[in-house]
Amino acid sequence: MTQATNTVRVVIDGRIVEAQGLRRTTTVLDFLREHQHRSGTKEGCAEGDCGACTVLVGTLNAAGDAVDYIAVNSCMQLLPTLDGKSLKTVESLKRPDGSLHPVQQALVSCHGTQCGFCTPGFAMSLAGLMQVLPTPSRQQVNDALQGNLCRCTGYRPIVDAALEASAAGAAALKLDDSADLPLLRQIRRDAAPTYSLDGELLVQPVVRTRKGSSFTSPANLAELDKALQDAPGATLLAGSTEIGLKVNKQFHRPEHIVYLGNVAELQQVQTSAGAWRVGASVSLERVLDLVRTDWPDFAEVLRRFGSPPIRSTATLAGNIANGSPIGDSMPCLMALGATLVLRRAGRTRRVAMDAFYTGMKTSVLQADELIEAVEIPRRQAGEVFVAHKVSKRFDQDISAICAAARYTLQDGRLSGLRLAVNGVTPFPQRVPALESLLQGRAPDSITAAEVDAVVATAFPARDGLRGTWAYRSLVARNLVLRFIGNEEAALA
Ligand SMILES: Cc1cc2nc3c(=O)[nH]c(=O)nc-3n(C[C@H](O)[C@H](O)[C@H](O)COP(=O)(O)OP(=O)(O)OC[C@H]3O[C@@H](n4cnc5c(N)ncnc54)[C@H](O)[C@@H]3O)c2cc1C
Ligand code: FES
Ligand code: FES
Repeated sequence: MTQATNTVRVVIDGRIVEAQGLRRTTTVLDFLREHQHRSGTKEGCAEGDCGACTVLVGTLNAAGDAVDYIAVNSCMQLLPTLDGKSLKTVESLKRPDGSLHPVQQALVSCHGTQCGFCTPGFAMSLAGLMQVLPTPSRQQVNDALQGNLCRCTGYRPIVDAALEASAAGAAALKLDDSADLPLLRQIRRDAAPTYSLDGELLVQPVVRTRKGSSFTSPANLAELDKALQDAPGATLLAGSTEIGLKVNKQFHRPEHIVYLGNVAELQQVQTSAGAWRVGASVSLERVLDLVRTDWPDFAEVLRRFGSPPIRSTATLAGNIANGSPIGDSMPCLMALGATLVLRRAGRTRRVAMDAFYTGMKTSVLQADELIEAVEIPRRQAGEVFVAHKVSKRFDQDISAICAAARYTLQDGRLSGLRLAVNGVTPFPQRVPALESLLQGRAPDSITAAEVDAVVATAFPARDGLRGTWAYRSLVARNLVLRFIGNEEAALA
């Protein structure tokens, strides 16, 4: 249950900061710069693309004896989501004796900064990386910096600085949070529900304005159901990587926001031999780790999804519910045969991922219904799963087209084939015409001309911002041939 004060309480460098009377859509970035006067954190794009605003959000671990950090884009995150958490900014890196953190020192000595605008963001991404990986490889540094842009220095000195800093050792790299720990224990959110004298479950908003709008952060499913019953039509907030954009760019001010990130059941992953049940608040970064061994191609699509600060909060459920025609997780989930668990007023129903969308940005989701979990099948012996995302930039870019296929080979013929795409159809979907063409055939018997003929009728001929139809249809054909292991036909 949230505290009954309509106050956001967050630990910043050894003190509890109480934010009261702020708008429910105040971003963490605006809070830092305008209210805390911590102007080291910069605003570049205000849309999650440049990383100048990167900060670390800390959560007390289950044992209550350490803090787990994630790097986030503070421009995209809403302040009330920090209630009960801690925050580290570039100002937090300085040591009590005034000396620099090894990451900062290495950025200086390796000439990793020129105008310096991007530098606090790089420093925070690297400091965050080194809390969990004190001696990263060059590739791991590159991956950690997918979401940090620098216009003037160039990346080599920055990556060199990261490797130099890592020589300082884990103890020197660790953030000092000894003063934060007792405070985090003090403001830890209580998961036990609170009832009125009449026995009614109470869900107190973290923020309630005088005009009556609210930000509510339920701690469990019972509280979530109650919060949605109290505020029908409320906006659900998960990782905030879409909603943050709407707040910043479209000045969207939802009257009631119900945050899913603290709902205990939605943070869980249940693993069985046949499937993972991924709760709606589980971050894409956790999903990436989960699927890495069974479905490496899905993991690779997720590795190229946004950047680490985007993936540290963004969710599968948010990607699916948002329903972009170029959303990346959906072709993979459709090809894998995923199932969605939908929840409304305490009741659940299951819907196949490939039956979820009814049109562009429309779905079977009813008013006040939410995605509670995504069930992702695990790999069974003999199954092949292939997926690939094509985008203008390798990192931090959304798809021109993403496609995925799953099948087995029975006596050298394609069997049980499921193939799904985004980018070439009004919404992510399976492609029955292509599936029928391929089903039961030996891969090397299928020609490029046959695939071209189906692609020409299956996908609406429309040029888009991310590619002409001619380009996309050629890519779609080549991906299909590559997926079934017949690259020679693509080259013919
Ligand atoms: C810089 C940047 C890079 C990006 N890169 C990619 C990319 O490479 N590929 C890609 O596909 N997308 C990308 N995105 C888009 C976005 O990150 C994804 O769509 C993400 O998965 C959204 O999840 P979220 O948890 O942040 O959703 P939120 O922003 O919290 O919510 C998104 C929508 O879903 C609804 N919602 C959230 N959870 C639920 C639920 N459980 N049930 C029902 N409705 C729900 C919300 O009400 C809202 O309408 C990018 C975005 C940014 C800003
Ligand atoms: S200001 Fe560019 S990512 Fe936040
Ligand atoms: S140093 Fe100028 S943008 Fe990076």
